[in-house]
Amino acid sequence: MVTSAMFRAAAMAMVLALSFSACQAQLSSTFYAETCPNALSTIRTSIRSAIARERRMAASLIRLHFHDCFVQGCDASILLDNSPSITSEKFVIQNNNSVRGFEVIDQAKSAVENVCPGVVSCADILAVAARDASEYVGGPSWTVRLGRRDSTDASASLASRDLPRFTADLRSLIDLFGNKGLTERDMVALSGSHTIGQAQCVTFRDRIYSNGSDIDAGFASTRRRNCPVTSPDGNGNLAPLDLVTPNSFDNNYFRNLLQRRGLLQSDQVLFSGGSTDSIVNEYSRNPSTFSSDFASAMVKMGDIEPLTGSAGIIRRICSRVN
Ligand code: HEM
Repeated sequence: MVTSAMFRAAAMAMVLALSFSACQAQLSSTFYAETCPNALSTIRTSIRSAIARERRMAASLIRLHFHDCFVQGCDASILLDNSPSITSEKFVIQNNNSVRGFEVIDQAKSAVENVCPGVVSCADILAVAARDASEYVGGPSWTVRLGRRDSTDASASLASRDLPRFTADLRSLIDLFGNKGLTERDMVALSGSHTIGQAQCVTFRDRIYSNGSDIDAGFASTRRRNCPVTSPDGNGNLAPLDLVTPNSFDNNYFRNLLQRRGLLQSDQVLFSGGSTDSIVNEYSRNPSTFSSDFASAMVKMGDIEPLTGSAGIIRRICSRVN
């Protein structure tokens, strides 16, 4: 005989099992197939038109996804503005006056909200935008796994701790990426996104005036022309991270490193007699290996500690909690 107590216990067990599986939910490429079938095409249209307006935006969007995922996981925490309960990540040294593309994500989000309100997370939009950006500028494409949810908080202190700095040495970069479950090979492949985009004089001044042996003299002297020796003069002046083909996604970044023409110290340390030299060498010779490793590493990076199931929320506006 089934008593009501037994029935309640069975119902409770079922609820627990369901909520456990929700917490364990994995990302999936078909996550919005039923709930928002036009999500991906809507995001793509929006991202493509932003990059058509300004090509550098492709680089900025890839970086935005990276700076999201490295701080408490890919949860769109980077998009949150300051509020009484939130200390934004936007103002830590690695992001302040540097990370960009927020308005492009906002536009994509409002386009998606128009077709399926309250369904698609800002964190997923960041991941899709990075893939669409790479594809648009001739880089690899990949299938984006979806189903991330958005955080209700941000962490400036974790941002400051976990985002790499341009002064970092190889050991600390390896540790930083290792702490996120990424290998040396993933790290070198991901750094290859410095094949596009720009950096400000303040990030490479010390290197180009160092007169060290790890920088090509001709390259240093060219870069000095638009980056005065004394800070803060010209601090914001821009130079391409890849001097050869700054607007297209290719493997020239690695070829530059072999010639000691990496712009940032954190670029050149990847080829400076250490354990990653052989990977840089390989990518410089083999663009298709770089391309497929980059795609896999982006998928891996996009999997860092997502909020899934009933954790987190779907923010209606990416810059604030509902
Ligand atoms: C290895 C450690 C890394 C360091 C220390 C680093 C540091 C930097 C710095 C200092 C800039 C220039 C910012 C500015 O001057 O405003 C930059 C730009 C950029 N970074 Fe990195 N980065 C690293 C890895 C990565 C990774 C893993 C990705 C992508 C997956 C990435 C993507 C980019 C892109 C695309 C730009 C150009 C952005 C633009 O033009 O708006 N970086 N990075």
